[in-house]
Amino acid sequence: MSAKKPIRKAVFPVAGLGTRFLPATKAIPKEMLPIVDRPLIQYAVDEAREAGIDQLIFVTGRGKTAIVEHFDVAYELEDTMRERSKDMSVLESTRATPGNIITVRQQVPLGLGHAIWCARAIVGDEPFAIMLPDELMIGEPGCMKQMVEAYHETGGNLISVVEVPDEEVSNYGVIDPGATNGALTEVKGLVEKPPRAKAPSNKIISGRYILQPEVMRTLENQGKGTGGEIQLTDAMARMIGTQPFHAVTFEGKRYDCGNKLGFVEATLALALEREDMGADVRAMAQRLLSQ
Ligand code: UTP
Repeated sequence: MSAKKPIRKAVFPVAGLGTRFLPATKAIPKEMLPIVDRPLIQYAVDEAREAGIDQLIFVTGRGKTAIVEHFDVAYELEDTMRERSKDMSVLESTRATPGNIITVRQQVPLGLGHAIWCARAIVGDEPFAIMLPDELMIGEPGCMKQMVEAYHETGGNLISVVEVPDEEVSNYGVIDPGATNGALTEVKGLVEKPPRAKAPSNKIISGRYILQPEVMRTLENQGKGTGGEIQLTDAMARMIGTQPFHAVTFEGKRYDCGNKLGFVEATLALALEREDMGADVRAMAQRLLSQ
């Protein structure tokens, strides 16, 4: 096992179909849907960069080119904005260092585990991060930074978890917890979407991972799991016991933007917190609620 090599690469699986957002996602990738004025993918990329990760690997599919374009130079737009003396700073975080965005293709969306496996040649023999852009993690520091800090202590594999009410556990991957030390919990097992009565905890896996490269070999011979998809959770579960495995309880707020209610909640919550519009949004929300 590679002991505490730095985390330089993050894989963003963005090849899913986003069926829960149809028809919006028929021609636009789910990851490009904006929360206020930034697409979901931008929040995830900014979070990775804050954690010191600069090599961004997008696992894409058909109809997803807008995601890569978003991090490219837009000459005409920039020229016109410059001519009209518009504020260019809004575009700053959409620039990538040349060579630092790498895309691979998942031809058929066979599941999250399969999407990650598609990046194996680029990940190589290094530990790497995985970020699911439809889970919006808002914290200070950001979720991935909290995880990288924990990784410096523990090494091995880490997943970020949040606690949810018991009635929600069966929608998610859940950890079987061992000893806890502050935000760190040893992971003894993982179950994908357990029935409420059989859930070993209410700590759910929340879209951020730091994994050792061995997971790629585990995924290689991974059969289909829940929903007929190749599940990342199943591969991670098989690695427990062979390598250190910990959960980091995220200190911050998680919004599940893969479903409509979570998306609307995130939009409202982030708009309310914005300095430039928070007060107006609050007044508007109060007006709407009192009707
Ligand atoms: P989701 O479970 O949210 O699936 O995937 P989805 O297809 O995007 O959306 P719905 O359920 O049809 O509405 C979680 C993450 O994994 C990626 C998705 O793009 C999303 O970021 N993913 C999922 C892949 O890249 N490939 C897959 O085969 C499945």
